[in-house]
Amino acid sequence: MANYDAIIIGSGPGGYVCAIRAAQLGLNVAVVEGRETLGGTCLNVGCIPSKALLHATHQLHEVHENHEKMGLMGGAPTVDWARMLAYKDDVVGQNTKGIEFLFKKNKITWLKGWATIPAPGQVKVGEDIHTAKNIVIATGSEASSLPGVTVDEKVIVTSTGALTLNNIPKTMVVIGAGVIGLELGSVYARLGTEVTVIEYLDAITPGMDADVAKTFQRILSKQGLKFILGAAVQSATATKGRAKVTYKLRKTEAEATIETDCVLVATGRKPYISGLGLEALGVEILPRGQIKTDAHFTTNINGLYAIGDAITGPMLAHKAEDEGMALAEIMAGKSGHVNYAVIPGVIYTTPEVSSVGFTEEQLKSEGRAYKVGKFSFMGNARAKAVFQGDGFVKILADAATDRILGAHIIGPMAGDLIHEICVAMEFGSSAQDIALTCHAHPTYSEAVREAALACGDGAIHA
Ligand code: NAI
Repeated sequence: MANYDAIIIGSGPGGYVCAIRAAQLGLNVAVVEGRETLGGTCLNVGCIPSKALLHATHQLHEVHENHEKMGLMGGAPTVDWARMLAYKDDVVGQNTKGIEFLFKKNKITWLKGWATIPAPGQVKVGEDIHTAKNIVIATGSEASSLPGVTVDEKVIVTSTGALTLNNIPKTMVVIGAGVIGLELGSVYARLGTEVTVIEYLDAITPGMDADVAKTFQRILSKQGLKFILGAAVQSATATKGRAKVTYKLRKTEAEATIETDCVLVATGRKPYISGLGLEALGVEILPRGQIKTDAHFTTNINGLYAIGDAITGPMLAHKAEDEGMALAEIMAGKSGHVNYAVIPGVIYTTPEVSSVGFTEEQLKSEGRAYKVGKFSFMGNARAKAVFQGDGFVKILADAATDRILGAHIIGPMAGDLIHEICVAMEFGSSAQDIALTCHAHPTYSEAVREAALACGDGAIHA
């Protein structure tokens, strides 16, 4: 008899959500976690601490940019960096302890240590071997390395080191204009750091709707971020507390070097699965390093599953959570399902950026007939009142049926507004369904309705 119905390796959003749902469904569950605290990358060194720093620095930005306009006089506060970091750590602590509480409440065993899988159905933690009917790999991801760049987490840092720098650097080079680079680049730009972002491609945030990416870059540039696009970083080396970054412009092949106080490497992440013993077990790994699974998260080994960043798909906490819940249902003999067509993506800068479904470029390349409903936040009274009129809502709908195919938002609370569209897409709604729904005034959500109206006879305030 196995000790557990399920052992889940990793307590990030994928693992802990899977554990809680499995326990709720009556399974006897253990989670293996080697970190001192639960919650994985997201809670400890990812989503949550970065949002705390984004919030704190946004407040500072508001003081500088907008307070006097509203008659709030008295000058900008000074930044106590140590206190700001302590606030961030406190937010992290509250959240990781929250997961510990939920584990106790749901009678989930925390096996402290790093796991290996010596044989099917077995998980080794320290010297102990535990057995389980189901084993779930939810070990997440780590920053991928870049040739010629040696991370020391002091001068040349990943997102982890960027959350605990000793001082606010005067200058910073960010390698990669993806989500991490732009969120953390924004944090430091707002703190007064001169931030230069070097991006390999010719646009920021690859994969994002081009309309949004263009507006986003313009707004970030206005906030002080400098962009060098179409440039491949060749090397970054640290000496005596400073760094040199060499890059090559792809078009001209011209090389240049920048000296800086700090380098943030944000060029993507890769599955964190080495050390589990998967090779010896014969687990099938895809060419890009993810564990191969079927539609039910099953690997080629019976009773061994994988979810989240360790498998294919967007590396997002909420995607992992959904997979965790679906897998728990499957392990409990029910049917679990994830709708990959409706997974929102959010960048928590100011303004926020969000998207779901198809981009306009994807629809074009697939030769689909579509229509665009676009509405600027300049026509939204609430956004104007808080100096956030720069941005828009763009809804893409099928030209014939009006069914919503995607939406892209840049503007205030974009990360929350997108969920109205997600629900609509889950229900297979048309743009007109949103347009006919009464939206409270004055709210940012009215801009979503106006974009839906723009898919039909036209927005009112445009
Ligand atoms: P990313 O994949 O979003 O962006 C990496 C960027 O680096 C790309 O634009 C790429 O073209 C560029 N790049 C690669 N090699 C380069 C080189 N040699 N020189 C210059 N540029 C180069 O990766 P990122 O930002 O590191 O994020 C990793 C993962 O974490 C992503 O999947 C992201 O979705 C996720 N994440 C999500 C967040 C959110 O949902 N708000 C927050 C933070 C991370």
